[in-house]
Amino acid sequence: MTGTPQRKYRSDYQASIYLIDRVSLDFDIRDGSTRVTARHSVRRNPQLIGTGGRWWLDGRDLRLVSIAVDDEPVADEALEVSETGLWLNGLPDRFTLTVVTEIDPDRNLSLEGLYRSDDMLCTQCEATGFSRITYFPDRPDVMSRYTTRVEADAERYPVLLSNGNCIESGAAGEGRHYAVYEDPFAKPCYLFALVAGDLGVIRDTFTTTSGREVALALYTEHGNEDQCHHAMASLKDAMAWDEATYGLEYDLDSFVTVAVGSFNMGAMENKSLNIFNTACIFAHQDTATDSDFARVRDVVAHEYFHNYTGNRVTCRDWFQLSLKEGLTVYREHQFAIDHGSPGVTRIEQVRMIRDVQFPEDAGPRAHPVRPESYVEMNNFYTITVYEKGAELIRMMAQMAGREAFTKAVKHYLDKHDGQAVTIEDFVLAIEESTGLDLAQFRHWYAFAGTPRLRVSSRFADGRLSLELAQATPATPGQENKPNFDIPVSVALFDDAGQVVRAPEIVRLIEQRETFVFDGLAAEPTVSVLRGLTAPVRLEFDQPDDALVRLMAHDSDPVSRWDAAQSLYIATLKAAVTAHQNDEPMPALGEGMMTAVAALLADPPDDRALLAEMLTVPSATQIGEAFDAIDVAAVEAARRYVKREIAARFEAELERLADAHAPSGGYVFDQVAAGRRRVFATALDYLACLDTPAIRKRAQAVYDAADNMTDRMAALNALQDLPGEEREATRADFAERFADQPLVMDKWLRLQAATEDGDTVARVRNLLADDRFDFTNPNRVRALVGGFVRGNPLGFHRADRAGYALVADEILRLDAINPQLAAALAGLLAPWRRYAEPYAGGMREALARVGEADLSDNTREIVDAGLGDQAGP
Ligand code: BES
Ligand code: ZN
Repeated sequence: MTGTPQRKYRSDYQASIYLIDRVSLDFDIRDGSTRVTARHSVRRNPQLIGTGGRWWLDGRDLRLVSIAVDDEPVADEALEVSETGLWLNGLPDRFTLTVVTEIDPDRNLSLEGLYRSDDMLCTQCEATGFSRITYFPDRPDVMSRYTTRVEADAERYPVLLSNGNCIESGAAGEGRHYAVYEDPFAKPCYLFALVAGDLGVIRDTFTTTSGREVALALYTEHGNEDQCHHAMASLKDAMAWDEATYGLEYDLDSFVTVAVGSFNMGAMENKSLNIFNTACIFAHQDTATDSDFARVRDVVAHEYFHNYTGNRVTCRDWFQLSLKEGLTVYREHQFAIDHGSPGVTRIEQVRMIRDVQFPEDAGPRAHPVRPESYVEMNNFYTITVYEKGAELIRMMAQMAGREAFTKAVKHYLDKHDGQAVTIEDFVLAIEESTGLDLAQFRHWYAFAGTPRLRVSSRFADGRLSLELAQATPATPGQENKPNFDIPVSVALFDDAGQVVRAPEIVRLIEQRETFVFDGLAAEPTVSVLRGLTAPVRLEFDQPDDALVRLMAHDSDPVSRWDAAQSLYIATLKAAVTAHQNDEPMPALGEGMMTAVAALLADPPDDRALLAEMLTVPSATQIGEAFDAIDVAAVEAARRYVKREIAARFEAELERLADAHAPSGGYVFDQVAAGRRRVFATALDYLACLDTPAIRKRAQAVYDAADNMTDRMAALNALQDLPGEEREATRADFAERFADQPLVMDKWLRLQAATEDGDTVARVRNLLADDRFDFTNPNRVRALVGGFVRGNPLGFHRADRAGYALVADEILRLDAINPQLAAALAGLLAPWRRYAEPYAGGMREALARVGEADLSDNTREIVDAGLGDQAGP
């Protein structure tokens, strides 16, 4: 806790005055404390002349035992120690630095640095956790070769792991043992990792194209090994994919993954020793849903892909985070598209951008993909840096063509191998290799906010004129926006659904431009921004019949889905307005009804696509259509439309459920998962009718289920149907999975999302329940996050008790885990988007949090939320 947190600016970057070629770490793990002895070979940075003698080392929550230069203790006059680090003065040009610190992983609940997760010790160093281990220049542009020795009790910690190859191990006396690891690749300290514990393991091997045999190991607490096979298979899949797609082979003889129960994020790409949240490793049909399986596959691939995009070529400073995350998410997206239904995978990505990134970009925390300043770096692992960053890469790939772009990425990796570089270095490498001119495109990295793309079309004399215009709203600290370089895909169809102009990409460079299509026999149906070729908000008023045609015939499944979404939105908007004006709900739009009828009568072969197209737009999407979100009206509208669809198409939905009902044994593949998704969607609709039959059916599905996906489909259908079926299934669930924390997270989410009764009281009771653990982020996310996201009416309750609950938990959490507390504070921050009385209630809760003595993490979020939106 500090007074005024320090803001860091991208423009202040200066290279490190000293470089560390070699790092040697010795961890002496004892009960109550761990002693870290660090020896570094240091030399002046030859690039910087006329500086030196004085050096800053970061360090937090450390007990400094000793510090020596060339084995001489540093004199008191030469040392200035503060809460965040220390200055060393009077340094020579080359020296050996020895630092001895003591840390206490058992009392470190921040889950950064070295900490305890259940029975094991593990590390998390990105972004700045290494400074909780020893005094060190905790910045990614200082790259060193590491040797690590770990010593601990042999019985409690039989497994000792660090980055690289194990070069020595043995007994150390008094029941202790040790292991020494050497990592041949220079790396920044954020990629350092260490694990010590009594762990189970599954092993496998992978042979690379050039014949190197890589030993693969996946460690977990004993008893969970059978939940790790999908992750292992996914790893091998990712290794093969990166060879086949980018020609990138793994570069060491061993690749180790460890699953830990307490983890702030999903997973971490430490060199050759990835550490994962168990939620992103465990996948067994009994305990994980199809989407859990897909998530595990994609996160495993993502962290593996970082070995090149992030580790071999890393970031110069943290403002460049999207250099590794945007590019790696892009690679992960490509991988996912190659492993599932391409259309539906892209739909999921588009939904994420629109439902989460666009709101961030329109709120108090809007920032460019390459931010200009930050207080706490952990607050900038955002959907903007990740997903918008990935969309920028995708745009470049589209402009260059897939093949040319893949070549360009290889050029970037070759050119900068072993270096810490910038986003500008990346864009330059892409220009060099592809010949693209990305001068104006660079604005995407520098300016926040979602451009609006207004489209209008005119048709006369066989000629279609398509006018495109762009405008980007102001964001905090950025009043005026330049024109962006916006790639927009366009295709034209005739009334029979035949293509009359194959998809092509036009680039909108100016504020307004007109594109002309000649020689058309009749007025075509226009399909634009197909699959979201740029992260912009499309404003294009199309008549219902055009949307219905696109929905039925567009060659791009994403466009078909998008057309369906537009049809739903029209009715939903009308329903919101009716609710607000106390008017009777409108009849369902004719276009929408035609669309649903057509879908049910002639469903697409891709069953996951059918499920997506049958799903009504999210509350967020509906809210997007209004200046201020009226939570109750949006919920009422969504429910009304769902219930009406269910009532009107009850027989068809019954048939759909029957045709997709669980049958045969569980396999996780595209076809089977698609079937389950359609079944869950049909059940969800039928549940809106709240009939005894559907309750019985849901209970029967639950009882007969041989997998978690079907079980959850049944529980979700019963969610808003209080009664004996719901109680019985939930009770069985809680008992059956009592010893599976990740499944109990699903149970916590179900409780938190249940509307009847006093939800706030229910959540407060669960916070005190034995099955809840406040120090475990997965539990907190399930219960508190599940409440905010899954229970809009409870969270936005008129008596403000929902907001008060969240504020209380932010304050309680901030004292132990600031990173997670700040993430929760982010849920209250966008209060300005809401209508009254919601906005006032959220602001009041946020202001109460702001009155406390807060961590820099939470302070930054709260100040942004309460600020005048001027921003840094
Ligand atoms: N490097 C990050 C993990 C990380 C983020 C560590 C922030 C410390 C602070 C990792 O590569 C990552 O991005 N993980 C994601 C999952 C991924 C599939 C997007 C995560 O943890 O959510
Ligand atoms: Zn990542």
